[in-house]
Order: sequence, then C-alpha cells, then structure tokens
Amino acid sequence: MENIGAFLGFWERGAQKRSNFEETASRSVKRWASTTVFLSFFIILFIGSFLYWVNVSVFPGSLLREEIFASKSSEESLGECPEYFRWIHKDLEPWKHTGISREMLERAKAHAQFRLVIINGDAYVEKYKNAYQTRDVFTVWGILQLLRLYPGKVPDLELMFSCGDRPVVKKRDYEGANSTSPPPVFHYCGDQESLDIVFPDWSFWGWAETNIRPWNSILEDIKEGNKRTKWINRAPYAYWKGNPYVSIAREDLMKCNVTDKYQWKTRLYVQDWHKEKKQGFKKSKLADQCTHRYKIYVEGQAWSARAIGRAGSRYMQEKLKMKYVYDYMFHLLIEYAKLLKFEPRIPNEGKKVCAQKLASSQNGLGKRFMVESMVNSSSETLPCTMPPPFEPLSLKAFFENNEMIKRQVEMWEKDSWESLKFG
Ligand SMILES: *[C@@H]1O[C@H](CO)[C@@H](O)[C@H](O)[C@H]1NC(C)=O
Ligand SMILES: *[C@@H]1O[C@H](CO)[C@@H](O)[C@H](O)[C@H]1NC(C)=O
Ligand SMILES: *[C@@H]1O[C@H](CO)[C@@H](O)[C@H](O)[C@H]1NC(C)=O
Repeated sequence: MENIGAFLGFWERGAQKRSNFEETASRSVKRWASTTVFLSFFIILFIGSFLYWVNVSVFPGSLLREEIFASKSSEESLGECPEYFRWIHKDLEPWKHTGISREMLERAKAHAQFRLVIINGDAYVEKYKNAYQTRDVFTVWGILQLLRLYPGKVPDLELMFSCGDRPVVKKRDYEGANSTSPPPVFHYCGDQESLDIVFPDWSFWGWAETNIRPWNSILEDIKEGNKRTKWINRAPYAYWKGNPYVSIAREDLMKCNVTDKYQWKTRLYVQDWHKEKKQGFKKSKLADQCTHRYKIYVEGQAWSARAIGRAGSRYMQEKLKMKYVYDYMFHLLIEYAKLLKFEPRIPNEGKKVCAQKLASSQNGLGKRFMVESMVNSSSETLPCTMPPPFEPLSLKAFFENNEMIKRQVEMWEKDSWESLKFG
C-alpha cells in the first residue's frame, strides 16, 4: 500500500459529485475538493481499492469495508474475480427482465462507431463512423486478443460500440411508465446518470498517438520506476501533468500550482502533446513520473480515467493486470450474450477481422504495440469466478459513504480557505 497511500483521486458517478480520496495527501491538497470526474473503467477499479483504504483511515467502523470491498488476499488463489467485477451485473441490470431484442440493438446503432459480431469464435466488424485516432482499431484488437486467450469460450453475440469521450445513453430518457427500454451501448465510460455498458478502453493495448505502450509493458516499467527512488526520498509534493484544457475541473486545478504567494505543495505541469510528439515523448514517460510522493488524479473527459491505473501501487498492479482486464471483458460478454433474444448474424457490410491482418495493416508505433500486446497462446488457467451482484443496501451505503467523504473534503477546503484568510 506504500504508493496507494500516497495517491489522491476523485471520482464521480454522474451529476451528483462524489469524490473519494486518500488521506495522507489530503492535508496538503485540501483545495481540490470540488474536482469532479466521471466513472469509467479505471474508476471502478479505483473504487475497489481506494474505498477500502479510505474507509479504514477516514471512517473507521463503516460497514462498507466488510460488505462491499473486503480485501480478499486469498481472492486470487481461490480463482475469484476482484470485487469490481460486480459492476458487470449493475451495468446489465436495465435488460435483466426484458432481455435484449434486435430492435433494441438496432436503436443502439445511432450511438455506435461500429458493430461487433462474434460467431463461432470469429469476429466481424461493421463500421459506421470514424472514431477519434485509432481507438476503434485498438478496441477491436483487444477483443481479438480475448478470442485468442479463451478460444471457443466467447459466446456468439452482436454488440454496438461507442468510442466517444462521454456517456451517450441518458438514464432520464428511459424512465417513466411508457418509456422504451434503453439501447445497449458498449463504451469506455459510464456514470450514474447514464446506462452505457462499461468496457476497458483501447489504451490497455497501447495508445500509439501518444506513445503510451500496452499496459503489460507499462506495468513492468512502473515497477522499475518505483524502485528507482524510494518513496521517502521523493519530492514531498503532489504531482500532476497533463492537458488542462479538456475540462473545467482541470482548469480549476491549474489555479492550485505553487506560487510565490501560496505554498500549495503542488507541482502542476502542462503536457503539450504536440511539442512532446516532436521531441519523441521523452518527457512524458509515465514510469519517469514516480519522482513525487503524491499524484493527483483529475478527470479530463471520461477517457483520461486511465491515468488512475498509472498510479503505480503494487495493489493496483495486482488487481489490474491484463489477466483481469481480459476476464472482465470475458464475463461481461458472457453475461451480455445471455440476455440476447435473437440469433446473431453476420452483418451485410461486416468484415471478418483477424489479428495478423489487423497488425499488418498498421505501421509505426501502432504496429509495434500490437505485436507487443499480442496474445501468443491460449490461457492455461480458467477465467476467474464472477462475484454475485451488489446487495442493493450495500450499494446504497457505498454511494452514501462517497457523499460523506465528499462533504468531509469540502469541509477541509473551507477550513483551509479560512485559515488562509485569517491565519
Ligand atoms: C401510458 O400509456 C397509457 C395508455 O396509452 C396512458 O393511459 C398513460 O397516461 C401513459 N402514461 C404516461 C406516464 O405517459
Ligand atoms: C507550476 O509551477 C512550477 C514551479 O514553479 C512550474 O515549473 C510550472 O511550469 C508551473 N505549472 C503551470 C501549469 O503553470
Ligand atoms: C507475444 O510475442 C511477441 C513476439 O515475440 C512479443 O513481443 C509479445 O510481447 C508477446 N505477447 C505477450 C502478451 O507477452
């Protein structure tokens, strides 16, 4: 827990701000309390690990710790999936009683960049719109690797995938007595106000445009980077580097940089991707960012939740290893396919995709990352075992607890401003 105890993060499910954070860091960074973020895949992971910690340190005695995020060190040896897999049930809940009809699926098309069909272990893609950069290509790549890892185990299915930055299926549009059922849309992000089905983002297999390598390789780099400087020898500041112009929360954060007047104990840096690209990304290596004791997490648009995974604690490395990323996809697709009330079929404009062909269609970093993240042999172990859905009461307690944490942070924020004014 060394590093996790030195990491600060905030998250939100929807319009109601909910944040959770790490106490050690909080003393020096109270002012970021109003930061808001969306929920995305990493945040789910984040909840699992951080709430556990926060509960222990900030709100001792809370029921939550035992009920939802019990730290199961024996989890892995028992073959159980991490607790965050429970969100799979939650994400699919809207179709639990109705199932998913072809009509519902076709309605999802309006939101989708592509349709993915799996039949007899083969994948077909029908493309509708361009995605930003190569998100769609790397997402399909990830699915192809899943098929290689668990050959013959992924069921036949048809799904619609959205590659945007913000959730697209608004809950409020599907409420009320006569409302239609929501269209099932797979996406990298979701929040409390939306019904998108959360799926791991493309960057797990590499993000060529920003020179971010596949997650497997990054985990190794981070382990090395962590070893280079002991925590106690790191600069006692909270560090953030990124593009501040993609969200209000980030622009807000920029006001908190160290100045002659205020010693916020922060070190905030603007990442200029264009400049970095010209210089070969030498200054943006994540593993080289292990030089400060604390790291700030602030949401940009939903996708940037990925940064959380880069915090570099051993705990996160365990729960977030590629095996679990694939297992999460696997269980999500299994549970989703169970709901389909129609026979999947190859779409008219659908093209069969396979790993070798896709990799050879890429060049430069894109190709290199695909080779690097290629699954070379099928898994020798079974997928982990799915945990049951959240108990409604635990989930309620979980959201309430987050509210409480948020209010606590807001109080610290207020105190801090007052002590600046009067002290
Ligand atoms: C739902 O439809 C029924 C029958 O058409 C109608 O009587 C009722 O007022 C509608 N309810 C709402 C909330 O629109
Ligand atoms: C924040 O302060 C540091 C130290 O003075 C400086 O190097 C950095 O450029 C500043 N960041 C921003 C975003 O102004
Ligand atoms: C699969 O093999 C390639 C080539 O030897 C290697 O670069 C890649 O990292 C391997 N994949 C994994 C997931 O280890």
